[in-house]
Amino acid sequence: MIQTSSRIYHCGIIELDKHHHEKGNITVAENMDTIPFDVRRIYYLYDIPGGESRGGHAHKALSQLIVATSGSFNVTLDDGSVKRTFLLNRPYQGLLVVPGIWRELNDFSSGAVCLVLASHVYDEEDYIRDYEEFAIDKHAGKL
Ligand code: TYD
Repeated sequence: MIQTSSRIYHCGIIELDKHHHEKGNITVAENMDTIPFDVRRIYYLYDIPGGESRGGHAHKALSQLIVATSGSFNVTLDDGSVKRTFLLNRPYQGLLVVPGIWRELNDFSSGAVCLVLASHVYDEEDYIRDYEEFAIDKHAGKL
């Protein structure tokens, strides 16, 4: 049987294009160039209270690029077998999260802004919010 289930090693940091300038820096991300999917939606988390965590779910089809445009936070990814934590603290780095990966975001610094570039529009049906359901689907190779 061909293993189609996504794994942690399919995720990782993408270095975004950055332009240094004495008046300030610019970082650019373009569809299918720096980002390996077409962006259909962006959203951002901000004013996150100290000690709060976000995420706590997986997606069936959604790919995301997560960027700490300001401040820092941790993203822990879990493919049902392996967990890996990424510290995001550079506005020119994005964490690619492929479908079928459980994620938790925490340790937000004061003033942190978490920008998410997403491959699909919002669809609650695409979420798996129950870890047991995620683990069962993952081990069955459905996710
Ligand atoms: P959720 O994705 O669970 O947040 P996080 O992973 O950051 O903790 O979304 C939180 C709520 O926001 C959810 O109940 C629905 C709403 N929401 C939208 O309406 N549209 C969106 O694009 C997103 C991402 C969330």
